[in-house]
Amino acid sequence: MTDTLATWGGWAPAVRDDPFGHFAEARARCPVQKARLADGHPAWVVLGYDAARRALNDPRISKDMLAALADDGDVVAEGLPGPEFSRHMLNVDPPDHTRLRRLVSRAFTPSRVAALEPAVRAIAGNLLDELDDAGPGATVDLIEGYAYPLPFRVIGELLGIPAADRPRLHAWFGVLLTGWAGDPPAEAVRASDGIVACLRELVEDKRRHPADDLVSVLVAAEDDALSTQELLSSLFQLIVAGHDTTASLIGNGVVALLDHPGQLRALLADPGRLPGAVDELIRFTAPVPHATFRVTAEPVTLDGVQIPAHEQVLVCLGSANRDPDRFPAPDVLDIGRDDGPNLGFGHGIHYCLGAPLARLEARVAFEELLGRHPGLRLAVDRDALAWAHGDGLVLRGLVSLPIVLGPRRG
Ligand code: HEM
Repeated sequence: MTDTLATWGGWAPAVRDDPFGHFAEARARCPVQKARLADGHPAWVVLGYDAARRALNDPRISKDMLAALADDGDVVAEGLPGPEFSRHMLNVDPPDHTRLRRLVSRAFTPSRVAALEPAVRAIAGNLLDELDDAGPGATVDLIEGYAYPLPFRVIGELLGIPAADRPRLHAWFGVLLTGWAGDPPAEAVRASDGIVACLRELVEDKRRHPADDLVSVLVAAEDDALSTQELLSSLFQLIVAGHDTTASLIGNGVVALLDHPGQLRALLADPGRLPGAVDELIRFTAPVPHATFRVTAEPVTLDGVQIPAHEQVLVCLGSANRDPDRFPAPDVLDIGRDDGPNLGFGHGIHYCLGAPLARLEARVAFEELLGRHPGLRLAVDRDALAWAHGDGLVLRGLVSLPIVLGPRRG
């Protein structure tokens, strides 16, 4: 490794807030390039759409980072809460991946997801009622009061997390997901310990009192098809994957629509366009700008660039989704865009298992919010918005979103 490698991550706040120009410059230089991460590890960053799609679908590019670490690979060390919570579908290859994904998929059948719509709508309505109590001219934080609790409550329902445990889990995950480079801060370690203890208790409780929820389904498969480590890891991963991502999509999406009043008007005039708009907002605002880390099990050539074996690969979905070779006028937000699928939910065998649920949650969240408050506006200057997630690369969302909701319609 030489010191001439470009750095990837650990960017200045302005780049973190709006990384797309940075992605475009890097992609124009080379769609597949070796870089150094903020924590010092090297990684091959994949920026072009075509190369990204191939990388995500290439069985020679493994998701088993623990095996790579055990092999002394120069890869990012396992984050909190540590290896015991790392045996979930997003961290393993087939056949383990197939087995784990099949078990959890039982909760995400189209009919099960569709059946959640009334519950999601009720959660959205209740949260808006609470925000409305502040009055039409008051400033409310749409992240704290709506975008974050909505998916968190939904995943809580799906998993069967007792209502009494949700506030502390919510707070702990908030700490854990801020992201950092290098050693975790003490408060993240405390949060992680709290989550571990809470999930262990939850599993113990469902062993004694099974119910109609996903934890009980997984507990029933324990021993036969699933080890306890895999069970706990799967729960942890589902909670992580299932809330901050969708929260960021809702927050980022509101900002993007306020930035583009013509698109907002088009949506208000015809809410039937929301399903298409949600996918375009994912493409345009990149709530998950990078896929999780991968490692080459053998040499792989992408876009003419040869990546040696045992090297780390980072697919930049936010760049791929703005690749002009794939999307005409990629930097334009167009809720009527008809260019086919984007990579916002990934691709290949690790394609987001929760995509149908995320789409449902985002559609209902926008329907309820915009239906009730079509005149909502930012309560601060656009430049004053604070984007979160420190040096973490996988999530892009706001710390807070001060909004004046305006008068309530209907
Ligand atoms: C806007 C919201 C969401 C976005 C943008 C998103 C994005 C993604 C992406 C990009 C991946 C692939 C990561 C990779 O290949 O490295 C993924 C995987 C996954 N997501 Fe989501 N996600 C969202 C919401 C959800 C929700 C609500 C759930 C569940 C409740 C969920 C569960 C999962 C799971 C289980 C995987 C792993 C699939 C596998 O390894 O086979 N996601 N997601």
